[in-house]
Amino acid sequence: MIDVHCHLNFEAFKDDFDEVIKKTKADGVEIIINTGTKLDSSKKAVELSEKYENLYAIVGVHPHHADKHELESGWEKKLEKLAKMPKVVAIGEIGMDFYNYKSNGIVDPKLQKEVFERQILLAHKLNLPLQIHNRHAGKEIIEILKSHKNLLKRENPGMFHCFAGTMDTLKEALNLGFYIGFDGNITYKGLAPGETVSLSDLAKTTPIEKIVTETDSPYLTPVPFRGGRNEPMRVIIVGEFLSQIKKLSYGEIDRQTTLNAKTLFGI
Ligand code: NI
Repeated sequence: MIDVHCHLNFEAFKDDFDEVIKKTKADGVEIIINTGTKLDSSKKAVELSEKYENLYAIVGVHPHHADKHELESGWEKKLEKLAKMPKVVAIGEIGMDFYNYKSNGIVDPKLQKEVFERQILLAHKLNLPLQIHNRHAGKEIIEILKSHKNLLKRENPGMFHCFAGTMDTLKEALNLGFYIGFDGNITYKGLAPGETVSLSDLAKTTPIEKIVTETDSPYLTPVPFRGGRNEPMRVIIVGEFLSQIKKLSYGEIDRQTTLNAKTLFGI
């Protein structure tokens, strides 16, 4: 299995990332990809990828951090420098987020869009795929991707990380050639606030040839461990859950999603 999106670069792992990485490998998770959400966490993801053979990095500025502070400090040049490092496999997590966070509400959508578009341009310049973050903004993201179609990689343009949204958004994303990522929250019962389609139904509709697996560790811990810190080894639980709903063996899920991730990221 491959965990295509997690955050061992975050504070939650600062004391035991080495142990977690070794344990994950022993459990049969072949590759871990750490994703940045701003410049410092992107740098950390790159540092980890340099230290461990089975780790790769994705660098970018999350829409939640698309505020003035990031913009003032020559962020694009710094991000480009990081993105050119050999084990960086995509630009992410980038996108749009209209969820009203307790900490800083909704970042100005115009600013979010600008930061997203500039990073699409950077990915084009470096011929890298995108790792998209979408929270309650599927329609807007699809519109932006469509209007930048000439800047997307013709083959394997990217993936939607932790997919949620409508069947329409899913179909549009697939039509654009994107892969679809599912996480441990697929094991949760009921719908997340603001969502209208269950993750299981979205996964049922997505062809297995387009699914990639992830954990978003330390978040989205699957049942029965929900409530505790998530770890990349739990991508196995995501695989087992997919095996049930896709009516395929775990071995087949493992083989195909691993192939998908390797194809998408060229690893
Ligand atoms: Ni994440």
